[in-house]
Amino acid sequence: MQTVKLALAGFGTVGTGLARILEENEELLFKRSGMKFTITSVLVRDIEKQRDYIPGPETRFTTNPEDLTADPEVDIVVELMGGITLAREIIIKAIKAGKHVVTANKHLLAEHGIELFKLAEEYGVGLYYESSVAGGIPIVESIKESLCVNKIKGMVGILNGTANYILSEMTTNGLEFDTALQQAQDLGYAEADPTFDIEGIDAAHKLVVLIRLAYGEDYPLAKLPTEGISKVTGLDIQFAREFGYRIKLIGQVRDVCGKLEAGIFPALVKYTLLLARVGGNYNAVRVEGNAVGPAFFHGQGAGALPTGSAVLADIMALTKVGKPNNTGFYSSDLKEADILPPEHATSEYYFRFNVADEAGVMASISKVLAEHNISIAQAVQKGDISGPNVPIVFLTHKARAKDVKDAIAKIDSMPFIAEETVSFRIL
Ligand SMILES: NC(=O)c1ccc[n+]([C@@H]2O[C@H](COP(=O)([O-])OP(=O)(O)OC[C@H]3O[C@@H](n4cnc5c(N)ncnc54)[C@H](OP(=O)(O)O)[C@@H]3O)[C@@H](O)[C@H]2O)c1
Repeated sequence: MQTVKLALAGFGTVGTGLARILEENEELLFKRSGMKFTITSVLVRDIEKQRDYIPGPETRFTTNPEDLTADPEVDIVVELMGGITLAREIIIKAIKAGKHVVTANKHLLAEHGIELFKLAEEYGVGLYYESSVAGGIPIVESIKESLCVNKIKGMVGILNGTANYILSEMTTNGLEFDTALQQAQDLGYAEADPTFDIEGIDAAHKLVVLIRLAYGEDYPLAKLPTEGISKVTGLDIQFAREFGYRIKLIGQVRDVCGKLEAGIFPALVKYTLLLARVGGNYNAVRVEGNAVGPAFFHGQGAGALPTGSAVLADIMALTKVGKPNNTGFYSSDLKEADILPPEHATSEYYFRFNVADEAGVMASISKVLAEHNISIAQAVQKGDISGPNVPIVFLTHKARAKDVKDAIAKIDSMPFIAEETVSFRIL
């Protein structure tokens, strides 16, 4: 019986999950692959740390990355530590030592993926990353293999469970943003520094990875329009509900006549769509291929066992392949995508103006919108007895992002505007 020797860089949430599945499903893994998997070494920051789970005596804990990358016995290096400096160094060393690599690190792949894929191709090794996008959902393999004959018209997804949890709590339990965030932190869904989750940065990392898989092109992270959920208020959630929508943090890419239009943004999603029903800390991705039509994937986007399951699937796949399929394309030399300038993107919009309660305001706003080719589909004005200002909400027909930006800038300079206007796209 062949034994596959694994070296783990990182033994936190995901590393521990992986080790638990290896132990619990050992018999199944053998039945499926005819192989035995052992963890020979584990790189951690602190060897003395008390751990909930310790693998068997064959596993050696170390603080020296060389114990993983320079060990000729190791077949696959599994990077589960996060960060982009040491993780990158370890992966490069592993590839150069001719070892396959599995990583869950979307941040690293978004920033340095192009370099790492080229290197892996040069050395003829696998660099697999199913767990880096949407945790347990098999979206990477599905795009790379099962949907590979399709031209991808577009993808839209909920790629960050923490942001989705916060928005779900605001919607279902009427919490304000800060309270919902605190709750997410108390439950361990959000980090002490939640910036990556709530400002859309984590979702942006994942979308960059998905775009490469779907189009074989690189959409540089720095060029991806990225907006988080920190400006979403309970009032907007409430208005959205009244119009039949839920607010979700969306990652989207579309092929618009050969150019890619992409971004991360909060959007109103019609409550009848499956995406609107993705609750709590779940993730979902809808992929539309020209042959297959729409395909919808839903599941747990994080957590020890769901993510460990995806990591182990990559390990199993790498023990079977001849030529590794890292990017899903024949060449791993991915060129920069032809990007549709974000200001040319079109969408329907939700606007909430907070205005002084006086005559003529609605007409003034409507006039500016018309001057910028923005036509109104629905409008609602609510009296607010608690103060001198009132919210006015407009839903629009399709409008260009540049026209929207210009119109709002003009409206926000008008004397009756009490606070900055809120605008979200409608899916
Ligand atoms: N958590 C999830 O559900 C999830 C889902 C999808 C993807 N991911 C990705 O998976 C990766 C790991 O996430 P995680 O949640 O498992 O992280 P984690 O719980 O914070 O664990 C990180 C592990 O890496 C070790 N480590 C960190 N920096 C190190 C350094 N400089 N030198 C040596 N060891 C170091 C830590 O050592 P100590 O144990 O000694 O502290 C710990 O064992 C990240 O890239 C993350 O984005 C996570």
